[in-house]
Amino acid sequence: MTGEQWWQQAVVYQIYPRSFQDSNHDGIGDIPGIIARLPYLKSLGVQVIWLSPIYESPNDDNGYDISDYCRILPEFGTMADVQEMFSVAHRLGLKIMMDLVINHTSDEHAWFKASRQSKDNPYRQYYIWRDPVDGHEPNNWQSDFGGSAWAFDDTTQQYYLHLFSKKQPDLNWENPTLRHEIYSMMTWWLNQGVDGFRMDVINLLSKPVHFVDDPNVTTENHSSSMNFIANGPKIHAYLQEMNHEVLSKYDIITVGETPGVTTKDAIKYAGTTANELQMTFQFEHTEVDNSREGFGKWSDERFNLVMLKRILSKWQNDLYGKAWNSLYWNNHDRPRVVSRFGNDSDQYRVISAKMLATTLHFMQGTPYIYQGEEIGMTNVKWPSITQYKDIDTRNAYDDLVLKQKRMTPDKMMSYIYHSSRDNARTPMQWDKTLNAGFTDDKPWLPVNNNYSEINVSAALSDKQSLFYYYQKLIHLRQTMPLITTGKYVVLDIADDSVYAYRRISDDAQLLVISNFTEKMQKHHYERPDSATVLISNYDDDLGDTLRPYEAKVYLF
Ligand code: GLC
Ligand code: CA
Repeated sequence: MTGEQWWQQAVVYQIYPRSFQDSNHDGIGDIPGIIARLPYLKSLGVQVIWLSPIYESPNDDNGYDISDYCRILPEFGTMADVQEMFSVAHRLGLKIMMDLVINHTSDEHAWFKASRQSKDNPYRQYYIWRDPVDGHEPNNWQSDFGGSAWAFDDTTQQYYLHLFSKKQPDLNWENPTLRHEIYSMMTWWLNQGVDGFRMDVINLLSKPVHFVDDPNVTTENHSSSMNFIANGPKIHAYLQEMNHEVLSKYDIITVGETPGVTTKDAIKYAGTTANELQMTFQFEHTEVDNSREGFGKWSDERFNLVMLKRILSKWQNDLYGKAWNSLYWNNHDRPRVVSRFGNDSDQYRVISAKMLATTLHFMQGTPYIYQGEEIGMTNVKWPSITQYKDIDTRNAYDDLVLKQKRMTPDKMMSYIYHSSRDNARTPMQWDKTLNAGFTDDKPWLPVNNNYSEINVSAALSDKQSLFYYYQKLIHLRQTMPLITTGKYVVLDIADDSVYAYRRISDDAQLLVISNFTEKMQKHHYERPDSATVLISNYDDDLGDTLRPYEAKVYLF
């Protein structure tokens, strides 16, 4: 794990297909739309594209509820379009990583339809069914989208487990027939030309064995039972089996989405000798501004920089030489980073977005850029909850405001502006024409109304734009092995305004300095006179004086 694998030098770009580019005037992004934009991604310089799910789905959770793993959602296109996408991408030297959602399916998947028919149906054992206990749910596990994780099914008078929505029943990984069916589906996709998998909530596959009322899980607050259920007893056995049966046979990229992992866990999943996955998405830094009242991400608190530095530094240090990090600020489940950790005012949006990019892209790991991050797209604020589409946002509002009455509508709306997943899901802003060039029909989710200023076309015609800054960062990673391999050393961890660290190899060093505030800062970091500025978001260098959101990297 010292940087010699291709995926350790790669930069990944995540596409949320529904919101990327519509090609057939129905307001929904699609695969031909993606194909048309591949040259744009090539010019940005990324090597890998991760696609959020494009499989057949009733879209209760925007495709994370799959009803057929081997068919494409007609709204997105056909299998022939997918083949075309693979071949155009490969011709451009781009790899495509697919989302793999195998902790659960849709309740409209043929397996579940059969499973719910009778207790002795062969597919019964594909899902997790339990008898009621005293007329109630088998235990107090909570769904990540609010409410109980158990749904009662009239036909057979049992409950099934769903850690997400009711329409996302959890698969029973204890069943070897199910496991092998999943492995053959994965092999089928690899043979279609897929270059890797991003595995959805992969560390939830193995559930704790005792399905009885568990004192460790409280129903007192909204937060889900996910962290309790994560990293179950057989998870490593399953992933090693999957690696042996499928992954090890292909030269692919794999990343597991793993809520509730510590650095120790991550080494087990993605360690040099783990034979499981290549890297994990950990959540700790995305929870840095979680609610102090127990509402999880439903909060509007501003993050604390020292906490963020401690978390990221721990991940850099603990995994060094042992396992591989993924590096990300946002994705389709997180708010926009410039609104969250930067400053999205007209004055500071671009400069603070460059600062955030610098901070992340000089760390060790594989960076992931989420669509629109490279042009500094921002969060949205819609006046009414009815304008939000995300099931997680809608359920949380119902639960916390309407049912439990634990907060006022205004408070909850403020939390939604800060944390809703719809912040990331508004359509990609391509240009200043109608609907940002995303569609010429009504978009499935409104376009952020700042699109006439913030869009790809504007970014491409401005040499100082965030787009070109990202292009440069990606290019530097491709050409400077130190960025992939150097040892990370954080400086002045208790400083709550500036994030500074070094990357050190035997013969060279990088000093990365980022001012996270809109105030001038004065700070001296040791460096030789010969040090040169490799990249900066200001044109000149004032030495120890840092201007608002200034970021710079010295090389020596
Ligand atoms: C993951 C996905 C998220 C989805 C959930 C259930 O966290 O990233 O979008 O809702 O899993 O599949
Ligand atoms: Ca379309």
